[in-house]
Amino acid sequence: MSKFYITTPIYYVNARPHIGHAYTTIACDTIARRHRMLGDDTWFLTGTDEHGQKIERAAQAAGKTPQQFTDEVSAEFRALWDRMGLTYNDFIRTTSPRHKQGVQALWRRIADAGYIYKSHYTGQYCVFDELYVDAVGSGAPCPECGRPTETVKEENYFFKLSAFQEPLIKLYTEQPDFIRPETRRNEVISFVASGLRDLSISRSTFSWGIPVPDDPKHVIYVWLDALANYITALGYGSSDTTKYEKYWPADVHMIGKEIVRFHCVYWPAFLMAAGLPLPKGITAHGWLLFEENKMSKSRGNIVRAETIIDVLGTDALRYFLLREIVFGQDGSFSFDALVQRYNADLANGLGNLASRTLTMINRYFNGEVPYPSHTAAHSAQEDAIAETATKAIADFGTYFDQFQFSRALEAAWGLVSAVDKYIVENEPWALGDKDDELSRARLGTVLYTSAEALRIVTALAHPVMPDATAKIWAQLGLGDIKNFDLPELRWGQLHLGTKLGEVQGVFPRADKSAITRMQNMEERNAATLASTTTATATPSAQSSATAVAPPPGAPPVAGAQPSAKPPAAVPDGKISIDDFTKVELRVAQVKVAERVKGADKLLRLEVDLGTEVRQILAGIAEAYAPETLVGRKIVIVANLAPRKLRGLESNGMLLAASIDGGKPVLASFLEDIPIGARLK
Ligand code: MSP
Repeated sequence: MSKFYITTPIYYVNARPHIGHAYTTIACDTIARRHRMLGDDTWFLTGTDEHGQKIERAAQAAGKTPQQFTDEVSAEFRALWDRMGLTYNDFIRTTSPRHKQGVQALWRRIADAGYIYKSHYTGQYCVFDELYVDAVGSGAPCPECGRPTETVKEENYFFKLSAFQEPLIKLYTEQPDFIRPETRRNEVISFVASGLRDLSISRSTFSWGIPVPDDPKHVIYVWLDALANYITALGYGSSDTTKYEKYWPADVHMIGKEIVRFHCVYWPAFLMAAGLPLPKGITAHGWLLFEENKMSKSRGNIVRAETIIDVLGTDALRYFLLREIVFGQDGSFSFDALVQRYNADLANGLGNLASRTLTMINRYFNGEVPYPSHTAAHSAQEDAIAETATKAIADFGTYFDQFQFSRALEAAWGLVSAVDKYIVENEPWALGDKDDELSRARLGTVLYTSAEALRIVTALAHPVMPDATAKIWAQLGLGDIKNFDLPELRWGQLHLGTKLGEVQGVFPRADKSAITRMQNMEERNAATLASTTTATATPSAQSSATAVAPPPGAPPVAGAQPSAKPPAAVPDGKISIDDFTKVELRVAQVKVAERVKGADKLLRLEVDLGTEVRQILAGIAEAYAPETLVGRKIVIVANLAPRKLRGLESNGMLLAASIDGGKPVLASFLEDIPIGARLK
């Protein structure tokens, strides 16, 4: 049994979890699950990064003590991971005593080896990235994120990073797999080759951190503190180092591409200085983009996992992220793509294969896996399916081990499509209507082959979609999928006569309303956050990071509903932001426009909202000829209750401006804007 240790970055608690954080954690969970299925002694670590200036300010802005604030947000991350069934073995918090003790032990070891000295630092610091930067002058933009930097003038402790330039280059050269993918490795090599300066590793102008041993006026630089979590969680620096000895070095540190430098330069240098073993590899994935930008709280373009879980389930989110995005590259998230993939690959793909195969075994063979013929009723088609399955098993493993999840799933779904085609060609339902012996033997063969292929895809996909595959496995009569020995997976292991479990659909088809529901849930949440943030942000906040700090009254993670807090007092004659967000204004495109018989002012329009086409009646016939409207983008109130005019239903209202007695002028845009976009 070999050991396997995998880690996620520990997440900053200044932002509540979103699907960007979930992406990394899901990828690690999937890898950990596969390793467990392969029989490896697996340890999966995640946690929260809770010290530093950025968190201290976020707490201040929220009107809480840092400890109160970090307790709350850390608990939200953990609750969400639990709700998603993520199988982490340990959750480390950097404010925990076990971590503090370990970090101080690491500091002492580096100091004892002669790599720490005291000096003065004057330069720019980016609080958002918690990074010392080369920019010049107060307010100069951070080269990483573009936010204004702050001048730091302090007596600090320094780490002799410059001493590690050569050893690091040697490491990257001798272990080409230390940094993956190649593009990141090249970036790191050129960064290190251009020269390394010593690094300030303590701060003395704020106190939210771990005190430097024997000099508590200083707190340890938050990145040294945070990176150490990978060993402190295993008991490094404590009286019980069993886990450290068993699992360290890590097999995989999984990170997003923006924190490569910290992990691939600073972390190995700290470990080399301390004389500790280095991790075996660091893998950086790309960013999840939403509306073309990195999904992040500061951009305000986040999508929460809860929304997707509520509507489509956790497995759908896991499958989508790993199948749709090429791991290592940036990839876009959209509700449309999510629902499309869900319907194509899960509802119509795996789900349909499971329900039609199992239902027919129930109907024609009393719920027992039938006998496949090896003689007269056997055809070359069964051999071809067996071959495709054997290749899918091999390819899935190869791609998965290289973290090419998308290609691994594509290989498995190649088998799903092959079997779908096989079923259609062999028409088992027609064979079931015949009484002769050959047809019956052929029916048994076709259903056995389909069920066996289903078993193989289910076993392969289990780490990616643990819930649905566990259900299909039980429906196949195979018991608990956890007991399955993945290395043994081969074609032909499904036993004849296996009694099926109760057959139930696992992926109900999603209609377009699923997209609207998810969009609405997110918009409601964003509106709630925006209104509470405005009310609570500290005007004196010094950096952009603090101006967007989480609001104290933000709703609990599980509920996408607006905050239960009483609405803020609104002066007479004004409406609150909550009132405004009740009105759903959207961009729509006119597809059809025609006059309504007997009504001079009325036009009947069919407008496309991206998710649906609906009929609207509008009193603009005197101002606009119908043919001039087709193709035009307009604004409509999308959530107005339907009403009837001249016997026709109007589903919404378009927006136009007019002065008394004047002609209406349609609201429109100078720049192009996608159909369905919301006005807010
Ligand atoms: N606290 C540091 C990491 C310390 S590790 C010793 C940090 N935290 S973070 O909260 O900003 O989380 C960063 C990680 O969250 C990224 O590296 C990535 O794994 C994940 N993601 C956050 N937003 C993301 C996207 N929009 N897309 C993909 N991953 C994202 O940096």
